[in-house]
Amino acid sequence: MQNYAESIRNFVERHATGLTVAFVAGAGVLALRRWLAGGVCRSKVRLDGKTVLITGANAGIGKETALDMAQRGARVILACRDMTRARIAADDIRQQSGNGNVVVKKLDLASLQSVRDLAKDVLENEERLDILINNAGIMMCPKWKTEDGFEMQFGVNHLGHFLLTNCLLDLLKKSTPSRIVIVSSLAHEKGRIHFDDINLDKNYKREVSYRQSKLANVLFCRELASRLQDTGVTVYSLHPGVIRTELGRHLLPTLALWKRIIAMPFFMLIKSPWEGAQTSIYCAVDESQANVSGLYYSDCASKTPAPQALDDAAAKKLWDLSASMPRLSRKDFSAAIG
Ligand SMILES: NC(=O)c1ccc[n+]([C@@H]2O[C@H](COP(=O)([O-])OP(=O)(O)OC[C@H]3O[C@@H](n4cnc5c(N)ncnc54)[C@H](OP(=O)(O)O)[C@@H]3O)[C@@H](O)[C@H]2O)c1
Ligand SMILES: *[C@@H]1O[C@H](CO)[C@@H](O)[C@H](O)[C@H]1NC(C)=O
Repeated sequence: MQNYAESIRNFVERHATGLTVAFVAGAGVLALRRWLAGGVCRSKVRLDGKTVLITGANAGIGKETALDMAQRGARVILACRDMTRARIAADDIRQQSGNGNVVVKKLDLASLQSVRDLAKDVLENEERLDILINNAGIMMCPKWKTEDGFEMQFGVNHLGHFLLTNCLLDLLKKSTPSRIVIVSSLAHEKGRIHFDDINLDKNYKREVSYRQSKLANVLFCRELASRLQDTGVTVYSLHPGVIRTELGRHLLPTLALWKRIIAMPFFMLIKSPWEGAQTSIYCAVDESQANVSGLYYSDCASKTPAPQALDDAAAKKLWDLSASMPRLSRKDFSAAIG
């Protein structure tokens, strides 16, 4: 015993510097990890009797957000394009939450017909809609087009949700107080809206397109909030953090092997999907935000977005452009705000 303690003391003395460095590094990594984890939504609000619709809820932060809503007792509609993956996610959410009232509906945001079909289904079959979460997204894919010929990232991340939201507005208005949550990204900060080439036909760059679509999310939130003033429907946009999800699926395979290797420790440190869902959940339920609308959030707090995301003239211009895109028609929009 004596010898054992002695040899430990010797070891510590001989490796004092190394041990200090290891300790400080370990503490640093833990502190960094905590810092990256961001805020947590502490609201205990229940959602019994309420209905929540989440797009892209079969994976990533959408699935975690859906699980949280189910745990609060809501009827949860997972609006997803891949019905097999959606059914597996729904089973999982029902099992984990003990809430059987979780349903899947088909929605491909890259098809205006699919958006209209889903909206029709919801308007005909749902009695209410208390929370709409526009979560689905695609990042940095090749130069693809949606079914209607729109550039894919703008088409899915913005236009599909623009149409969906407008189609569901009357039901949201009937269910007040109700909320619309729009998942944007920090990527909006470097974004700009290419009003003269919205589909980036002239010069497609996948990151330019992603940033444009995420800036469009924040501008849409602002314009929608101003159109919905005093209706009891409030609107929020947010950056969820940098999160371990499948979002990098189009980007990662195109990176050099060494970049993928360097990214691995980074990938382990960034937010888990549960952590990444917290700001969406906060915007969807937190009582403190009940009478606030049109703001941008990060880590469960409102935050000032980039200057170009505060440009009300651009927000209005984007709304008008979106509403006049080919194959979108005035008929799609509720008379009140179309
Ligand atoms: N992860 C991050 O670090 C990060 C950072 C900032 C912002 N965000 C935003 O967070 C949101 C959620 O992303 P995530 O990280 O959870 O990514 P994810 O794991 O890739 O999940 C994206 C979801 O969107 C769905 N989706 C994609 N295209 C669709 C379409 N055409 N129609 C319907 N659904 C479609 C996907 O369905 P499938 O499974 O069928 O493909 C999936 O359910 C996105 O809006 C993203 O821009 C994420
Ligand atoms: C929001 O407004 C309603 C109605 O005016 C009020 O009852 C409620 O206390 C307000 N909530 C907050 C958090 O300010």
